[in-house]
Amino acid sequence: MVSAAGLSQRVAHLSPSATLSISAMAKAMQAEGLDVCSLSAGEPDFDTPDHIRAAAIHALQEGKTRYGPTAGIPALRRAVAEKLQQENGLPFRPEQVMISNGGKQTLFNLAMVLLDPGDEVILPAPFWVSYPEMVTLAGAKVVRVQTEEARGFKLTPEQLRQALTPRSKLLILNSPANPTGAVYSRQELAALAEVILSVPGLYVVCDEIYEKLVYGEARHISLGSLSPELFQRTILSSGFAKAYAMTGWRVGYLAGPQPIIDAAITLQSHSTSNVCTFAQYGALEALTSPLSAAAVEKMRREFSRRRDLMLQGIRSLPAMTCPQPDGAFYVFVNICQTGLSSVEFCQRLLQDQQVAAVPGVAFGVDHCIRLSYATDRATLEKGLQRLEAFVHSL
Ligand SMILES: Cc1ncc(COP(=O)(O)O)c(C=O)c1O
Repeated sequence: MVSAAGLSQRVAHLSPSATLSISAMAKAMQAEGLDVCSLSAGEPDFDTPDHIRAAAIHALQEGKTRYGPTAGIPALRRAVAEKLQQENGLPFRPEQVMISNGGKQTLFNLAMVLLDPGDEVILPAPFWVSYPEMVTLAGAKVVRVQTEEARGFKLTPEQLRQALTPRSKLLILNSPANPTGAVYSRQELAALAEVILSVPGLYVVCDEIYEKLVYGEARHISLGSLSPELFQRTILSSGFAKAYAMTGWRVGYLAGPQPIIDAAITLQSHSTSNVCTFAQYGALEALTSPLSAAAVEKMRREFSRRRDLMLQGIRSLPAMTCPQPDGAFYVFVNICQTGLSSVEFCQRLLQDQQVAAVPGVAFGVDHCIRLSYATDRATLEKGLQRLEAFVHSL
């Protein structure tokens, strides 16, 4: 059936990214002069570190302004492969790395080259908003698995086993996770690995874009580093946006088995060609400069302090619960005691108290909301006070 506007069936049920829409609404209210506390941001509030910006400026001045190779500039592919080998224990060769316009495009490309109609993709909920849309666009079926708050919103081996069918093609694993901040431990990954390896042909895409942002005792572990068998099944998606405060640069990468990466590169050659050439030189600097570690650590420490502040604020409210997030920069808060749906809650919170939060329904869980602490502490404190006033007014 053709829609009234002549749009394809493919986009008929596609919804706009809820996280981007709420942020846009909050920005529009701010532009009108309203004092909005935005706790909806999905990006660090820091500027990209100076040395990374300087490298891109230098590349521009040097005339790095032309088309580049579709898969990314060779030096960056090499640097990513080296990073994955040394930091993550993933022995990818540079040819197995593709540079894309952010983690988002790597995952989109992957869905297009890996999935056919009828294929099933196991998606632990809550999930990042774009995963189900990408899977659906590729014609595949989303198999949602509801994780439990009591288990830190993490997928268990039993849940994974129950979700498997002969059509299972891909599992999406995001650690540290958006929207929950959950970080899988080595033991938890090993338990999932046993189930994964028992199913021939099941791939796992590990979205590790928040890997640098882990707090307290938590450590980031790459699933593919657990064994050579697992490595063969793993496709790694990541990017520079969150760790290096480079959201607007649009640089991400995908690494995986050669045929998958080759197909993703071919697809990219017909869509976006290559990532902005001088932006890639900035990304190269981020990975190779000795200045980066301290710059990232400074941001991570600040996020860690804000996380504590946020947790303290939320836990002092009687009507709300949340597991402690060990990574990323979000808390996923259970609001079921208020009796409101997540959309009602967020709309009223924005109208009554000018606090922007994202409804959990966008992440597949309607009794929760996502609050981001990627904002300065003064805004966080004000936002928490207003949240408290809102909850008491219900
Ligand atoms: C879990 C997750 N994966 C991937 C991305 C995509 O990041 P980008 O396309 O900015 O690199 C995001 C961005 O919010 C995210 O939260």
